[in-house]
Amino acid sequence: MHQDWTTQNVVVTGAASGLGRAICDRFALLKARVYGVDLHEHPLADIQRTLARNFLPIVCDVGLWAPVRQMFSGFGPVDVLINCAGVTGHTNMKSHETEPADVEQVLRVNFFGSYHTSKAVLPGMIERGYGRVLHIASIAGKEGNAGMLAYSASKAAVIGMTKVQGKEVAGTGVTVNALAPAVIQTPMVEALPAEQVTYMTSKIPMGRCGTLEELVAMVEFIVSPACSFTTGFTFDLTGGRATY
Ligand SMILES: NC(=O)c1ccc[n+]([C@@H]2O[C@H](COP(=O)([O-])OP(=O)(O)OC[C@H]3O[C@@H](n4cnc5c(N)ncnc54)[C@H](O)[C@@H]3O)[C@@H](O)[C@H]2O)c1
Repeated sequence: MHQDWTTQNVVVTGAASGLGRAICDRFALLKARVYGVDLHEHPLADIQRTLARNFLPIVCDVGLWAPVRQMFSGFGPVDVLINCAGVTGHTNMKSHETEPADVEQVLRVNFFGSYHTSKAVLPGMIERGYGRVLHIASIAGKEGNAGMLAYSASKAAVIGMTKVQGKEVAGTGVTVNALAPAVIQTPMVEALPAEQVTYMTSKIPMGRCGTLEELVAMVEFIVSPACSFTTGFTFDLTGGRATY
């Protein structure tokens, strides 16, 4: 179905890199108004130079409620929110070897970041009778990746939140869903220990990583008006690793 995106305001967190950046590229191409949120100003400015008028960079730490609340208080209507901001923390270590501060930081970005931004936009979406929220979770949240306690737990929390929010908004015209990719080559994956990446990729039945094109195509559908009878669900993008 052809979709006119030109009237839609799309907010993408984690916009400066990897999945978030690819999603911004796609929605800018579709001529939506794209608001790219990230911690880092310089890569956002680079993206703005390429995507020009329909990309607006915003520097914000989504792990903190006060700046997120302030950011959205100056906003017009948000039609689509896509939460990509995320960190892995230290990996390739047993749960009992982790540092509480590291685990807390990962939860702060991955879970609280998605909680803060969705908390800020959902009331307006519900009031206007339309909205799409998509949290990027991970296969780690469904299966638990050994060596990745903080990351897996934070993504399981995102999946749990998606179920709650998805049910709470049912019937309002708003949907909340999540997407659980396996491995897609991005700076996040490049920064992981090789052993951890081998562990993750060896579990993919298709025997390869996902591509940004595959990710973007699925995201575009999930946040479109056409995807109107699915809420609270975690879509799969794992080359067969998760069949549930
Ligand atoms: N790449 C994969 O294989 C994969 C697989 C499953 C899930 N994911 C998830 O997809 C999302 C994007 O991952 P990616 O691979 O593109 O990573 P990435 O590291 O390339 O990009 C993440 C972006 O989030 C930003 N960010 C980090 N903390 C932030 C904060 N507090 N506030 C605002 N922005 C912040 C970073 O600056 C960075 O630009 C993450 O949530 C990740 O967990 C990735």
